[in-house]
Amino acid sequence: MKRVDCLVALVILCVSPSAAPAIDVAPPGAAGCSGCHPVSRAVETPFTRLVGRNATEIVTAVQEFRTGQRPGTVMDRIAKGFTDDEIKAIAAWYAAQKE
Ligand code: HEC
Repeated sequence: MKRVDCLVALVILCVSPSAAPAIDVAPPGAAGCSGCHPVSRAVETPFTRLVGRNATEIVTAVQEFRTGQRPGTVMDRIAKGFTDDEIKAIAAWYAAQKE
């Protein structure tokens, strides 16, 4: 199985109703986002919080940064470093996190 297929399978498994309510293990690359978009409220940040946000919204925003439809100072460059499947896995993980 390709790595991307594994990720997709992992997300499907984790978001299916029979699985545990939250995705505990951060997918690859998520740490690259959480430095600027922290999971914990206790961490001060000037950046938008992604925890609990709709996963589709996060994916759409990142895709728009990548294509230049949405202007960004850093996100346009960061978005180019991730595949759609990676972003989907990261978005699903953020959406499932509790503050
Ligand atoms: C270096 C800090 C930094 C990193 C790392 C980073 N972001 Fe961002 N993010 C920003 C900034 C700053 C913005 C505001 C847009 C801009 O200026 O580029 C933003 C905006 C966003 C938005 C739009 C939020 C909104 O409601 O407008 C999303 C979604 C997002 N980031 C997702 C991610 C994801 C997913 C990752 C990891 C792949 C990530 N970010 C990594 C700094 C960062």
